[in-house]
Amino acid sequence: MKQKIITKLLTGMAGLGIALGAATAHATPESDRQELIKYYTTKYPNVKLEDYVYGALAFDADSKAQYDAIMEFPPFEADIEKGRKMWETPFKNGKTYAGCLPSGGKQIAGNYPMFDEAKGKVVTLSNVINDCRVANGEEAYNVDDKKTMGLLTAYMRTLSNGMLSNVKVEGPKATTAYEDGKKTFYSRKGQLNFACASCHVQNGGNRLRSELMSPVIGHTVHWPVFRGGDNLVTLQERYQGCMKSVRAVSPPADSETLNNLEYFHSALSNGLPLKASVFRK
Ligand code: HEC
Repeated sequence: MKQKIITKLLTGMAGLGIALGAATAHATPESDRQELIKYYTTKYPNVKLEDYVYGALAFDADSKAQYDAIMEFPPFEADIEKGRKMWETPFKNGKTYAGCLPSGGKQIAGNYPMFDEAKGKVVTLSNVINDCRVANGEEAYNVDDKKTMGLLTAYMRTLSNGMLSNVKVEGPKATTAYEDGKKTFYSRKGQLNFACASCHVQNGGNRLRSELMSPVIGHTVHWPVFRGGDNLVTLQERYQGCMKSVRAVSPPADSETLNNLEYFHSALSNGLPLKASVFRK
């Protein structure tokens, strides 16, 4: 049965060369973004671009209404509070995260991931937090430890609520990293032979089995999410989950592959407002 649905899905996709074909030779990050926006606004003329921040919920009024009700009194409030305490607790040397990050850590999350020319690689917000810890004599956190980095970033990202995503891809090295992330996004993998794009470009707004799939535009502006209300899931953990769902083996969190994927992926949401953290089922 499962196989049948997947076969049907793949057959349905065969006619739609557009998105996988988006990986054209002279595309720029800005033209990639514009092309995808055009693809979606043409396909779904009734969905407003700003509603893409809600992911799959933008395509299902009932689920969106449920989400709105939950978000009035988010069940994960206590977790954000824990993150706030971590953020405000000074390091052993008396300094703080706010003293170490640009603009006191406010309204900066939309600039990340950022290409760091000196390091010659993409740095995520988690990397910058760890750099700040190490510079102040503290140990780096494990980037996928939810009780430390997870909670801290869940709070820290709220300081950037409303900021428009503004990921810059400038210069040859940054472009190479972006292209690498794009390749990961558009390459088919796993036993089921799906690319991220198979589900989140061609089938954004469609159902796969019982699941409505979110479009790639707007994907990166609302992390971490709290699934079921209390299970903190980071963006890279979600990548890993999606790879597992097509029976592919995912690279680890904070690997060059996933950081480059996050870089490409985030640039596609440029111009959309950030909002951390949100409920997901
Ligand atoms: C077989 C289809 C499939 C593939 C392939 C797939 N995903 Fe997903 N993905 C889903 C489903 C289903 C969900 C949950 C519903 C939703 O929000 O789209 C999801 C959720 C997500 C979300 C969370 C959206 C939100 O707003 O909460 C992100 C981000 C995401 N996927 C990224 C990726 C990336 C990057 C890849 C490639 C590494 C990928 N996915 C591959 C099906 C897929």
